[in-house]
Amino acid sequence: MNKFVAKAASALCTLGLGVVLATAVNAAADRDAIIERIKPHGQICIQGDDTCGTPAAAAAATTSAGRSGADIYNRSCAACHASGILGSPKFGDGAMTARLNDHGMDGLMANAINGINAMPPRGTCNDCSDDEIQSTIQYMLDND
Ligand code: HEC
Repeated sequence: MNKFVAKAASALCTLGLGVVLATAVNAAADRDAIIERIKPHGQICIQGDDTCGTPAAAAAATTSAGRSGADIYNRSCAACHASGILGSPKFGDGAMTARLNDHGMDGLMANAINGINAMPPRGTCNDCSDDEIQSTIQYMLDND
């Protein structure tokens, strides 16, 4: 091999290595970008799972099943009752207390369990026991 060929070969090697390195760096950056792009938008968490964080009022009125009225309210009822949509008694503005005065706790329970008009049976908490529904209504009344 003469000097010129050796130099050219060495230059090509350096260039080649650079290209390989640059490609590797780009690939890593691309991979991060892809991971960022395809990561889930939300996070599903099972109650009790650490990733959920602790609901603010979780300590209140814990039932035998370990779910408080506040937990159930936030998970299943707030979607309607927080804003009072569809004519639901709005949380915190006295509407549920007015219902209690009209229907009594037995009436509230019956309507919450069986559903009434746009109020779905058990307020969509299908695995809620009657006790849990009652403690959830109590939570709503306590904060009314
Ligand atoms: C899809 C919306 C929606 C969800 C979710 C929902 N509610 Fe309701 N709820 C309503 C509406 C609408 C009414 C008013 C029904 C009526 O009287 O016409 C109502 C009324 C009630 C009443 C009053 C019943 C009465 O006798 O006047 C109670 C108690 C109640 N909801 C409890 C709950 C509980 C507890 C949950 C969650 C476990 C829940 N709701 C979830 C829409 C909802």
